[in-house]
Amino acid sequence: IMFVGEAPGADEDRQGKPFVGKSGRLLDKMLASIGLDRKNIYITNIVFWRPPGNRDPSAAELAVCLPFLERHIELICPDILVPLGGPAAKTLLGVRDGITRLRGKWYPYQTGNMAAPINALPFFHPAYLLRSPAHKRESWLDLLTIKDRLNTGG
Ligand code: URA
Repeated sequence: IMFVGEAPGADEDRQGKPFVGKSGRLLDKMLASIGLDRKNIYITNIVFWRPPGNRDPSAAELAVCLPFLERHIELICPDILVPLGGPAAKTLLGVRDGITRLRGKWYPYQTGNMAAPINALPFFHPAYLLRSPAHKRESWLDLLTIKDRLNTGG
């Protein structure tokens, strides 16, 4: 499974690793709830540096990183691709809908260099779940969707 977040925060910037701060700790709990940990998954971001002041990544930053991200996904070639949050889902899937509409459904993801599409399941971003814990319920359903897919091998 490959998770794709938005951009490093201050903790990630300091350590040079994705999701090592508060959001990462929630992501670890979410993974543990379906029997996974960091060893079973791969994580990166749609932008590879921390936008100054934690602003949203700009269109130019997204465009510069996208070819590297696409190649990264081709090389990892995951069974399941999980965009975390609206910006990651929109960037990867090329859609305009918000994450509330996108989450919980499977989408095909394919680049020109892939023989077959990968199954993508957008999730709420853990930072959003920290701010809006009421939405953890939907994320639990999404985690179960992944668990089912892993169990059935489909
Ligand atoms: N949030 C992200 O989107 N990515 C990280 O790496 C950390 C926090």
